[in-house]
Amino acid sequence: MSEHLFLKACRNEKTERTPVWVMRQAGRYLPEYRAVRARHDFLTMCKTPELAAEITVQPIDIIGFDAAIIFSDILVVPEAMGLSLKIVESNGPAFDNPVKSGGDIDRLNTNVAGKLEYVYEAVRLTKKLLNGRVPLIGFAGAPFTLAAYMVEGKGSKNFEKIKTLIFKEPALAHKLLEKITASVIEYLKGKIDAECDAIQIFDSWAGVLPPDCYEEFSLNYINRIVSEIKRDKLPVIVFPRGIRNFEIMKSSPCDVVGVDWESDLAKIKDTLGGIKVLQGNMDPVILLSDEKKIRSEAGKVLDKMGRDGGHVFNLGHGILPETPIDNIKALVKFIKEESNKYH
Ligand code: CP3
Repeated sequence: MSEHLFLKACRNEKTERTPVWVMRQAGRYLPEYRAVRARHDFLTMCKTPELAAEITVQPIDIIGFDAAIIFSDILVVPEAMGLSLKIVESNGPAFDNPVKSGGDIDRLNTNVAGKLEYVYEAVRLTKKLLNGRVPLIGFAGAPFTLAAYMVEGKGSKNFEKIKTLIFKEPALAHKLLEKITASVIEYLKGKIDAECDAIQIFDSWAGVLPPDCYEEFSLNYINRIVSEIKRDKLPVIVFPRGIRNFEIMKSSPCDVVGVDWESDLAKIKDTLGGIKVLQGNMDPVILLSDEKKIRSEAGKVLDKMGRDGGHVFNLGHGILPETPIDNIKALVKFIKEESNKYH
């Protein structure tokens, strides 16, 4: 498996073409996902290994991506730490009992592996279903992004609660981030033992922190996780969505840096090219246009990377539920054929 195209590209080894997968590929744009979802609620799907494995493999069978990502959610870790998670229909996820005080932080549990056995079982089942066809990516939320949900109780526009904790009570914020970091390390080690082939850390809310606090309150914790889980030939991808200073990623022990669609990939290649492999970054909304536009925009992304490796093609954030199947199929076909010509 370590010789698979996607894993080689993540390690910056020469490949015959650019690999392609997309964030949220196991999701609502697929009629086959919606058919399963019509019969079960989201958390039941996450917690039933047979269903999670079936959904993980759907986009491999139907679209033909070069990597699978295990169907789950970043918020199963805070749930295992003691928060009660609800996925409110059309409102997204929420916690009934968000973290409000030092006492709440003290009560959080960090021995999470026992409560997340269902994820490890889903990974083992998925590996059987994939049968060596493509590698399986495991993932976790970055401590800051998880802390944001745990303190806000849900998604937020301005993130007042988590940012006030950071600005007003930094020692308490660090205490919370430490506990989440310990939990994420234990969780990811379990996923790697269950034989995930690569790991992605989603820092989806990285961009809400002022740049001069990003290292202290987010990246340092991510880097600690990466160092703890790093194993020979296991690539680690970090997706710091919304950061503008990519220079700081140079010293991260990660292999791949995910780039959101608001950043200019050519500029980031100037900063990080040759040091980190880059993943990204087509705007997901382009997939709502037509095949001609998709081919020209995807071609621009390949051109920015110089079509000479060091790149994993992805969107700059998750694929949208309203994406037409034929459009995502056309994108994958284009990357598979087109990136070929230049390597
Ligand atoms: O990428 C994949 O295909 C794997 C599955 C995956 C899901 N969530 C499934 C999901 C992954 C990697 C995630 C990560 C995740 N979850 C993130 C980080 C990535 C990102 O998008 O920035 C975040 C912030 C969450 C939290 C979360 N979960 C939100 C905000 C929502 C609601 C918004 C939405 O898209 O509906 C969820 C629910 C969720 N997670 C769904 C899926 C397929 C939709 C649930 C449904 O079917 O109703």
